[in-house]
Amino acid sequence: MQFFVDTADLEEIREANDMGVLDGVTTNPSLVKEEGNVDFHERVLEICQTVDGDISAEVTATDFDGMMEEAHTLAQIHDNVVVKIPLIKDGIKALRALDEEGIPTNCTLCFSPTQALVAAKAGADYISPFIGRIDDISSDGMGLIEEIAAIYDNYAFETDILAASIRHPTHVKRAALAGADVATMPFETMTKLLEHPLTDRGLERFLADWEDYKDARKAEAGLA
Ligand code: E4P
Repeated sequence: MQFFVDTADLEEIREANDMGVLDGVTTNPSLVKEEGNVDFHERVLEICQTVDGDISAEVTATDFDGMMEEAHTLAQIHDNVVVKIPLIKDGIKALRALDEEGIPTNCTLCFSPTQALVAAKAGADYISPFIGRIDDISSDGMGLIEEIAAIYDNYAFETDILAASIRHPTHVKRAALAGADVATMPFETMTKLLEHPLTDRGLERFLADWEDYKDARKAEAGLA
């Protein structure tokens, strides 16, 4: 499974990248807004220069011509830019056209298996089902990942399943079990993947025992 960090915060992106297990970054207009007064295109370039992997940057037009124009501009920023296209009718047309031009795409705001099926037929490189937002309305976000995985397997679609709107480590675990190709998550969730109280307690004990062992060795050598 590939790990993407879901943020436009360069500091967090650098920290995630330093962990050595980061494969890419996803952004969206809301995440860019959180950054305040930054130039969107400059920030996308900075992210591309920081992380060697796919970097999703989203269009904000909702008509075909507008999306294509924005997609071309974004794709020119860096070879690793993946253009994020919303899952609407003109978006599907844009996915098909961009696929024919060889521009990589991430189809975003997916909430149903049939939406994912259409996006794959249109040639999307990634489909982004939003697990957390589905759970938020008392529905089954992970069930969506499982259904998309089964449909894509049935027809050998090459579109990668990018589990998005991830809120906690259990989402990551279940997305991995369901066969999602990528999990994009907040940096905080990425660090939580490592945490376990028994690891902390075990390490504490090992280090204490190691000190005791060294003291005992010194005492035996008459150095204490
Ligand atoms: C995915 O690419 C989206 O940016 C993101 O995962 C949405 O997450 P949210 O539902 O927490 O806003």
